[in-house]
Amino acid sequence: MASIISLPRYNIPLKTISTLIIFLLQLLPDRAHRSSSRPAVPAVIVFGDSVVDPGNNNYIDTPAKGNFPPYGQDFPGHEATGRFSNGRITPDMMASALGVKELVPAYFDTRLVDQDLLTGVSFASAASGFDPLTSTIALAIPMMKQLDMFKEYKEKLRKIAGKKKAASIISESLYMVCSGSNDVAEYFLDPLRRPIKDIATYSEFLMQTASNFLQELVNLGARRVGVTGLPPIGCLPSQRTLAGGVLRRCAANRNDLAKKYNEKLKRELNRLTAKDSRAKLIYVDMYSVLLDLIQKPQKYGFRVSKRGCCGTGTLEVAKLCNRLCHVCSNVSKYLFWDSYHPTERAYKIIVDKIIQRDLHLLL
Ligand SMILES: *[C@@H]1O[C@H](CO)[C@@H](O)[C@H](O)[C@H]1NC(C)=O
Repeated sequence: MASIISLPRYNIPLKTISTLIIFLLQLLPDRAHRSSSRPAVPAVIVFGDSVVDPGNNNYIDTPAKGNFPPYGQDFPGHEATGRFSNGRITPDMMASALGVKELVPAYFDTRLVDQDLLTGVSFASAASGFDPLTSTIALAIPMMKQLDMFKEYKEKLRKIAGKKKAASIISESLYMVCSGSNDVAEYFLDPLRRPIKDIATYSEFLMQTASNFLQELVNLGARRVGVTGLPPIGCLPSQRTLAGGVLRRCAANRNDLAKKYNEKLKRELNRLTAKDSRAKLIYVDMYSVLLDLIQKPQKYGFRVSKRGCCGTGTLEVAKLCNRLCHVCSNVSKYLFWDSYHPTERAYKIIVDKIIQRDLHLLL
């Protein structure tokens, strides 16, 4: 107060003072600045499988869980939330980069408060897939059921925020869709259960189920949708173990199916976006990003890309990756955390790449 009262005596023009204040504000730490500015989107809303499930499976009866150590060993508070990694996963990193929030919670999380719903949740369920049979086998939440959860979520939003605000959250939010890997892995693990026998037809079928899901999502109000293509599934540690021989090569048939599906998906997303000008559906390439990490780990500071950090790194995932397992001494050297899922550091590299390459298409 004293300095303000004394100002006139020094005859400092008000404009100079406000300029100085603005200058000083700019010197504040980046984090403070970011939280005071508007986030790029109101919410991040997520559908898919274990890559983007922050713990919905904790609340359902399924073997596909990751809510026990060593999962989460590098998460804040070393908490095993159900995320299938040693730390945060891609929706968390995306929401953080957009200035929305630091973690995207599971829709089923019983501790959710209104603010969590306003800024987005994940409906994803580990072990699920686009093919309904995949989710049935693993007792996971099928993609179409995730849309029912989304409908319920929209009702809750309306109650919290009112009709108008809820509608703007639904239309302006970023939607992340990441599914299909389990369909491919399951297809080769248990081919007898699949009515479709050749991979060209199966990739077409998968793309069609993905397309049906996405059209329904747009009908429900989504406008900015990033759809992740399949990774080189044959090069995941688990698939090398199952089909890569003693040299642990990449399983070519899995990669073939993934590539076929990706080509079809890319075309379909362009077609849907051209047909329906309400929404933008963009293809997010995961295949080449992850393959480069796998083939040139040293370029990114990794030492090991053929095995996961948990246990022997060749098979362990979910219940098999548990507190009795030996965990690698330096997880930063590993591209994969368990036999299916990247480490937090690898996820961060992938998300940074996606943000730099694709995000402007949706904002
Ligand atoms: C772990 O590995 C990373 C990457 O190679 C390295 O930078 C770091 O110094 C290592 N940490 C320890 C404790 O050895």
